[in-house]
Amino acid sequence: MYEKIQHLSKELEALIVTTAQDAEELRIKWLGKKGYITVLFDEFKTIAADQKRSLGQPLNALKNAAQEKIQALRHATVQETVATSADCTLPGDPQLFGARHPISIVRNEIIEIFAHTGYTLAEGPEIEDDWHVFSALNFPPEHPARDMQDTFFVRQSDNAVVLRTHTSSVQVRVMELQQPPIRVICPGRVFRNEAVSARAHCIFHQVEGLYIDENVSFADLKQAVLHFAQEMFGKETKIRLRPSYFPFTEPSAEVDVSCNICGGKGCNICKYTGWLEIMGCGMVDPNVLEANNIDSKKYTGFAFGMGIERIAMLKWRVRDLRLYFENDVRFLAQFTAVV
Ligand code: DAH
Repeated sequence: MYEKIQHLSKELEALIVTTAQDAEELRIKWLGKKGYITVLFDEFKTIAADQKRSLGQPLNALKNAAQEKIQALRHATVQETVATSADCTLPGDPQLFGARHPISIVRNEIIEIFAHTGYTLAEGPEIEDDWHVFSALNFPPEHPARDMQDTFFVRQSDNAVVLRTHTSSVQVRVMELQQPPIRVICPGRVFRNEAVSARAHCIFHQVEGLYIDENVSFADLKQAVLHFAQEMFGKETKIRLRPSYFPFTEPSAEVDVSCNICGGKGCNICKYTGWLEIMGCGMVDPNVLEANNIDSKKYTGFAFGMGIERIAMLKWRVRDLRLYFENDVRFLAQFTAVV
């Protein structure tokens, strides 16, 4: 019997299998009801007591070794089955990448264009007081913008609290803290009491620019605007300034760029004029400088303000403003490729 145990131990060591079925057959052959081990144990019962003493230990060792080995072989074939059943030719699970919002894309582009000519970023609060939105910007007391029809009031009183209607309020915040030279670009969200439609929204975004120093002229303003327009819409872009009125600038102008769709020939986007309006601008009114403790005899400056949605609309020809606020992923996902 001892020889049999020895022999089976050697055989056990050499066992290999390739499939789960082989492993199962081995289990039956070795550990099953009529398996080698079971038969040996039956035989063990019949041998003399003194022999049992010397054979019990090697027999148990063989049984344990057989159980361990066959278990290990089975395990290996199961793992192999899992590994080989993976189909490496299947396409991977797609990972959805987020996209920047088109308004953020344009906002960042505007900031970057002005950063190249030395403008730094400034921001201010969305909930503002009358002073920063209107009074310090030379709005007369009876100006219609102060009316509830146009402005959202948080509190109506002598010094009302409002949702800012333009980012020009950030100009005032900057002038309060800083003496010239000032060169800032101020992006932000603004609010107006408008019925929502394809062409108007009660929330939108603006970027304000302010440059104050000694000897700043209207020619500097024109050059700054031209540089921006060509960086944003292409080197061929032309600008034209039309006289306009804003309480905080004198003289004031509205800026048009040559239509980037028809190249100025006339199309339905530019309403056959060849021009698209992009911003308001002007020389900072001396009253505004004085209201903010800046010496208007020594310093002059220019300011400009534009709507980010307006620039985005011209850039991507998306004509319905509401799309920028609805956060419909079918719309937003179209901007994944734009950085
Ligand atoms: N604040 C004006 C608006 O909301 C835009 C604007 C016009 C800003 C002329 C300026 C400016 O700084 O000079 O319509």
